[in-house]
Amino acid sequence: MAEVQVAEHESYPFVVISNRLPVDRVIKPDGSASWRPSPGGLVTALEPVMRARVGAWVGWSGQPDLDFAPFDSDGIRVVPMRLSALEVQNFYEGFSNDTLWPLYHDVIAPPTYHRDWWETYVEVNQRFADTAARISSPGAVVWVHDYQLQLVPKMLRLLRPDLTIGFFNHIPFPPYGIYSQLPWRTQIIEGLLGADVIGFQRLADANNFSRAVRRLKGFVTKNPIIEVPLVDESEGVRAQGPVRRGQEFRTVVAKQFPISIDAAAYETLARTPAIQARARQIREDLGNPQTIMLGVDRLDYTKGIGHRLKAYGELLADGRISVEDVTLVQVASPSRERVQTYMHLRDEIELTVGRINGDFATISHTAISYHHHGYPRDEMVALYLAADVMLVTALRDGMNLVAKEYVATRFDDDGVLILSEFAGAADELKRAMLINPHDIDGLKDAILAAIAMPKRDRAARMRALRRRVIENDVDKWSTEFLRVLNNSRGARGRKD
Ligand code: F6P
Repeated sequence: MAEVQVAEHESYPFVVISNRLPVDRVIKPDGSASWRPSPGGLVTALEPVMRARVGAWVGWSGQPDLDFAPFDSDGIRVVPMRLSALEVQNFYEGFSNDTLWPLYHDVIAPPTYHRDWWETYVEVNQRFADTAARISSPGAVVWVHDYQLQLVPKMLRLLRPDLTIGFFNHIPFPPYGIYSQLPWRTQIIEGLLGADVIGFQRLADANNFSRAVRRLKGFVTKNPIIEVPLVDESEGVRAQGPVRRGQEFRTVVAKQFPISIDAAAYETLARTPAIQARARQIREDLGNPQTIMLGVDRLDYTKGIGHRLKAYGELLADGRISVEDVTLVQVASPSRERVQTYMHLRDEIELTVGRINGDFATISHTAISYHHHGYPRDEMVALYLAADVMLVTALRDGMNLVAKEYVATRFDDDGVLILSEFAGAADELKRAMLINPHDIDGLKDAILAAIAMPKRDRAARMRALRRRVIENDVDKWSTEFLRVLNNSRGARGRKD
């Protein structure tokens, strides 16, 4: 197996590891290849963090069986990892996205458990850990990201005890009743406890994790501190049960650090005359309806796109709204297209969109303007500016940065955010119209109320939302996480 070629002298005081790099290798049908920005909230959040620091970002190139030397991408040093086609299948599509993803999102889709997927997950995590160990300078800070790499903290600690290791989970951490289904539940907990600080999106996620630690390891947790007995894990001795009198322990911090976006950058784009002109153009192209509603998601079953379409379709069928007055724009960017559940979802969503358009669209007005691709950030900002109502109806979501992007863009204090209470963002964005996406009647009422909301109320809500998003931006998120991580460096204790 070919390994990443890292020059002897190439080592960094700050290393980020995630499955995805900020750029993804794309190969077109004509065989030409290029790098393009990667999808998802993790990259949106981490890019500004990395641009502001000297360090390297380790991750997969996005294509199987390709080796790339480290290179600079728009001010970020990236170290691409190679995954074989089988590893992509077993580690990425399999264990990460067909076992952990549905399990961690409240089993909205049934998780699949395969022992060979798990074995590949262990192998790939080990390779990420080996690479990070090789390129980290003495005493470096290594920040590991997300559910694809939960074993890396322990593996890295065994290889390089001098490092300070942080971990951030971008997706929810499930309640123990669900988590305990996982055949490898104890190994994952042990993997994560290799970190000095484990960050979660919500307090509830951190609490779920601490409970799993108590149930599976018997360690004492005094929120946000977990006491991990010091035993020589390199010798295969596994700690179990509370720290005994006279015994030494390491402290691990497990707490919430709600992730965010570079709010100022979004506002700057929104204030650009060319983007504002584009927003006006979008409205015109859609036939200048009174209300434009917008959904922006990776095409994922956790996002509640079907629930949103159902509510909109029923409102049209009930005659409570018409396509002349209310248009829905749905951007559904392609995601995990070789995983069965995602293939089915695409069929289901596109069938529904087709039906609603077939039933209600007129020659001059479509009901749903549906787009199965991603857009550059400029176009997204223009869409946010054009949208009167933003629909975030996730059934479960770690945070949902689209909600924050919409708010950051609306410097005009206009627009209404309808936000699922099951998205992490709901903990902070309390002045959004919070909804339960399973309650279709409630969702329909919220849509009607959003459409009819007087300007003064819209402005009052949006001002409050903007204060939260501007104050708690991504810089604050990373600064706070890294501050706690620095303070925790090598924290030890002895039980009296
Ligand atoms: O934020 C969750 C997450 O799974 C990230 O880890 C990931 O980069 C993003 O969504 C997009 O998913 P994927 O990398 O599978 O395309």
